[in-house]
Amino acid sequence: MNTTENTSAATAGTPGPAAGSQAVSAGHSRVPVLTVRGLTKTYGSGDTAVDAVRSVDLDVASGEVLLVMGPSGSGKTTLLLMLGALLRPTAGSIAVTGRDNRDVDIAAAPEKHLPALRSHTFGFIFQDYALLDALTATENIAVAANLAGTTGSAAHHRATELLDRVGLEHRATARPSQMSGGEQQRVAVARALSNDPPVLLADEPTANLDASRGRDLARLLRRLADEDHRSVVIVSHDDRLREIADRVLWLEDGQFRQIASMTIDPVCRMSVERTGAHLEWHEQTIWFCSEGCKREFAENPDSFQP
Ligand SMILES: Nc1ncnc2c1ncn2[C@@H]1O[C@H](COP(=O)(O)OP(=O)(O)OP(=O)(O)O)[C@@H](O)[C@H]1O
Ligand SMILES: [Mg+2]
Repeated sequence: MNTTENTSAATAGTPGPAAGSQAVSAGHSRVPVLTVRGLTKTYGSGDTAVDAVRSVDLDVASGEVLLVMGPSGSGKTTLLLMLGALLRPTAGSIAVTGRDNRDVDIAAAPEKHLPALRSHTFGFIFQDYALLDALTATENIAVAANLAGTTGSAAHHRATELLDRVGLEHRATARPSQMSGGEQQRVAVARALSNDPPVLLADEPTANLDASRGRDLARLLRRLADEDHRSVVIVSHDDRLREIADRVLWLEDGQFRQIASMTIDPVCRMSVERTGAHLEWHEQTIWFCSEGCKREFAENPDSFQP
């Protein structure tokens, strides 16, 4: 997939500021797995209330890789936690279509139904891997399989199969502290697959990985979507993830915005708006996320690829 294609696909489905109530649809005929309407989260109340996510509409299709980007504090993690039934919305609905084709509204489901809903529907991948240090790679995955109802040798077998799938069969007995960041994140991906969920939710999955390991991880997520028709929703600042996304949406102040006018800061490679810090270079206007990046660029422009 190329970036231009991604951007235009996302733009086609992305409501502009004046079209806030229009759903950000998958843009193709695949079946929606998640249908989000009017999703809102307000933390706190009164003078200290923070509107982290504001009336967001979104459709996620099966087999789709959706990347949600946006500046720090724009509501990405809050949105992802609500999608995965880890955080109660203040308002709105999240209909999830399970493998049995039944729709459930996560936002309205009773608290006692949420653990089962989560374990049948979602696999979670976090920035810091969140593996248990005392357990081997296999055991970390087997524990997750246990929680999803697979026990004994079946759980061990499942863990071995999944380690193989993420290319880590040779690290089965290693503990997290004995593995590289890239390996730990692949174990975390295998763990997220332990219950064979239709949806993977990833929060900054490549943030702690170097360029090549980040790219490997991104390709693995793409493969899991393609081979299993799994939906993958990633929230991240990482521009490398655009390469594997079907759609890229831009979240700002808790709302989706048009990204047609976005450009890349050549220093930190973040998507930025064409406002604020900028300079002219070789008859081009180069935009930056901050004065810091602009300064860095100005000191040695030839070391960056605009
Ligand atoms: N538990 C909380 N209580 C109060 N405010 C919160 C809480 N969690 C997040 N916020 C606020 O909600 C807004 C959105 O936060 P969120 O963590 O979703 O942003 P983000 O886009 O994931 O940022 P980052 O890129 O830094 O991870 C921020 O203003 C944040 O300070
Ligand atoms: Mg976050």
